Amino acid sequence: MASGEQVEPVGDPIERIVELRAQIAHHNRRYHELDDPEISDADYDLLVRELATLEATHADAVPVDSPTQTVGSAPSVAFTPVVHRVAMMSLDNAMDGAELQAWGERLVRAMERLGDVDLSTVAYCCELKIDGVAVALSYEDGVLVSGATRGDGRVGEDVTANLRTLADIPTELGSGAPRRLEVRGEVYLPLSAFEATNAALLAAGQKPYVNPRNTAAGSLRQKDPAVTAQRKLRFWTYQLAEIDGGPGLVSHEASLRYLEGFGFPVNPQVQLLRSLDAALARCQYWVEHRHDLDYDIDGVVVKLDDLALRTRLGSTARAPRWAIAYKFPPEERTTILRDIEVSIGRTGRATPFARLEPVFVGGVTVETATLHNEDQVAAKDVRPGDTVIVRRAGDVIPEVVGAVVSLRPEDSAPWTFPRSCPCPLSTPLVRAEGESDTFCVEAECPYQRAQRLIHFASRGAMDIEGLGERTVQLLIDAGLVNDPADLYGLHAEDLMGFEGWGETSVGNLLRAIEASKTRPLANVLVSFGVRHLGPAAAGALASRFGSIEAIAEARQEELAAVEGVGPIIAATVRTWFDRPTARELLARLAAAGLAPAAPAVSTERPVLAGRSIVVTGALAGFSREEAEAAIVARGGKSPGSVSKKTTAVVVGADPGASKLTKATDLGIPILDEEQFLALLATGELPEPEPEPEPEPEPAPDPSAPT
Ligand code: IVH
Repeated sequence: MASGEQVEPVGDPIERIVELRAQIAHHNRRYHELDDPEISDADYDLLVRELATLEATHADAVPVDSPTQTVGSAPSVAFTPVVHRVAMMSLDNAMDGAELQAWGERLVRAMERLGDVDLSTVAYCCELKIDGVAVALSYEDGVLVSGATRGDGRVGEDVTANLRTLADIPTELGSGAPRRLEVRGEVYLPLSAFEATNAALLAAGQKPYVNPRNTAAGSLRQKDPAVTAQRKLRFWTYQLAEIDGGPGLVSHEASLRYLEGFGFPVNPQVQLLRSLDAALARCQYWVEHRHDLDYDIDGVVVKLDDLALRTRLGSTARAPRWAIAYKFPPEERTTILRDIEVSIGRTGRATPFARLEPVFVGGVTVETATLHNEDQVAAKDVRPGDTVIVRRAGDVIPEVVGAVVSLRPEDSAPWTFPRSCPCPLSTPLVRAEGESDTFCVEAECPYQRAQRLIHFASRGAMDIEGLGERTVQLLIDAGLVNDPADLYGLHAEDLMGFEGWGETSVGNLLRAIEASKTRPLANVLVSFGVRHLGPAAAGALASRFGSIEAIAEARQEELAAVEGVGPIIAATVRTWFDRPTARELLARLAAAGLAPAAPAVSTERPVLAGRSIVVTGALAGFSREEAEAAIVARGGKSPGSVSKKTTAVVVGADPGASKLTKATDLGIPILDEEQFLALLATGELPEPEPEPEPEPEPAPDPSAPT
């Protein structure tokens, strides 16, 4: 199918309904039975929505087997069927706040109709919607007797032996277990495990998996449990489906705590909220923070907490009335790959990229996406004309994750890397033995030159406002600028003739260029675009050597000895400064008046020497940069992630959930802002809190969840 924008119904709506039902049935089979979907979830949701809208207005009777009335797909004959004692339903979706609100209003009306519900006590449970595979686990007398996939909701597939290999899933519940228990939840593959698997596959020249969900589904539906055991599958529990011979549980929250007592993993982000507004705020929080986690989530599930009320509200044919999935804007979509081209970067690296039929994904319209290097194109085997899956997650640059091979045109052929640079000089491209990247090594390559200038002027480098890609190209084409030093020789008269340029814009640009002469030394180093030299290592070199001249004269071993630099960066820095063209550029920049601001020499005592302090969340008295600078000024380090080597984690408002979880798991001290100030002053960590005295048992509050 095409790129997936909402398709306007054309022609006869009844014909379109028939067509949509067939299409959706086909996609159900690809997703649920073959674990190899042809379209993204977002494109699938659009088809189902279009069908539901048409059915609501045109179909007199909606058949019971319409995809709007059913769940999943028939179980595969490869597995023994398991009849679910309680149907495994789907969830209705809310695509935005207004749809969540509308669901809430429907719910309130339904509760009002019941006549005896005190609306002021209604509570909602907010949970992450884990993007994995739903399973049902049945226990008899505390022993796992069956584990099944959802299938069509009525009959699933027996994958007990495979589920037994997951350490997260208890096989025996121990004392106090009820006679019968059915627990449901989501099997998922952590992102770190998915990335490690794909990195290994790519390194071996093999086709990587498209996403963690499909990998999890494929891993779970293996004939050989030993294969499942090798994949690092995990499990989150989200529902107690049936219990016989256990305590009377009145709320969802209480049932999760009860299951947790038997060792079922319950996600720490489950939250009980007293209003739908609070639930919506929680959904919006997770739209921003979905990438803080080490697993994919595709939304937030909002559930009514009261179990008796749930039973009274009941379900439609495919989903309960008491829950809704707030779906996130999609980060994966399918579209057509028009062509593959290579772009030339400032170091000459030739990066293949996809020209795509425009597609709205991750909040923006994407027309190009990186393909990284020659081997990745070959391993993914994406070809011009293919339907491809495009991903744009958070701020990460868009990427083509793979092709839908079943939709490949018959005449397609594998793509081959071009032999020469796409620039007018057409110099042969070079790929060194054992390297994955291909380079244009022509010193005069105009594409590299333009990229070097764009990089020089960019925010993290000389930060010359108004000197973007278009202006750089204009200056090069006019023959005014060849390298960064030429920028400092520009005069107003040179620029006044350009179309659309007036005194103001010319003045602004010249002032911005002038202002860049005193940028900090670290930024100047970054602006040279030395391979591997990023802002952190540039900062370390600037602090250690204090001037361009001192770095230019330093021996490679001296460079490598600087903390955060190392032998690889030291080698590329040395090579760069040794090039005659670089020496000449430096001399011309100095002559033009470039005078980098020397880094501030720290006057703080090095009370944090050798310590590693991670900061997460917003602090009241520091920006993130200020907090990190305060740590570095005292001899410490402030990396972006928590590890065994972390000394302490400073936590502000809205901290990254994964950092917090990891710190807790590793037993790393967690400091608030006040304790952080004390640490900066003294270098001492606060005394650990003493174990709290057991509190006297409070009188039971009948309205409180247990
Ligand atoms: S509750 C009656 N809670 O989403 C439905 N489902 O589209 C009970 N899912 O089949 C499901 N995380 O595979 C629930 N915290 C969560 C979930 C969750 C993921 C999946 C589940 C379900 C699908 C519905």
